[in-house]
Amino acid sequence: MRYHEESRLAGVYYVGSVSVGTGDRGKGLGTLVTALSIRDGIDVFACKRVIGIAQPSNAPSRAMLEKCGLFVDPDRATIILSTSGAFQTR
Ligand SMILES: CC(C)(COP(=O)(O)OP(=O)(O)OC[C@H]1O[C@@H](n2cnc3c(N)ncnc32)[C@H](O)[C@@H]1OP(=O)(O)O)[C@@H](O)C(=O)NCCC(=O)NCCS
Repeated sequence: MRYHEESRLAGVYYVGSVSVGTGDRGKGLGTLVTALSIRDGIDVFACKRVIGIAQPSNAPSRAMLEKCGLFVDPDRATIILSTSGAFQTR
């Protein structure tokens, strides 16, 4: 959908799937990797918007994304249907 110019998601660059080892969390590594990904992604993909997806209960991920300049859009939610019951994202 992000490649179709008439899509609501046209020009969107997704950040996410960052994971830091449990022993190294809270040192700024997640924020650093995400910030670099956003910086380089904007250059490489010439995107118009950046979106990250985190579950409401994932406070570290939300804090990390907000530290990188993203904010919660109350008009937007992501719904994932999974027949296995497994989560696609945290
Ligand atoms: C989300 C994750 C990548 C963050 O990585 P990290 O290197 O620990 O994060 P940072 O050290 O850069 O911290 C970023 C912000 O989160 C905050 N934070 C960290 N742990 C937190 C917690 N348990 N509750 C609330 N905020 C928290 C930090 O305080 C920091 O904000 P601040 O500098 O304003 O205080 C890491 O927790 C992780 O790997 N989680 C499991 C995988 C996951 O959920 N990935 C995200 C998928 S969407």
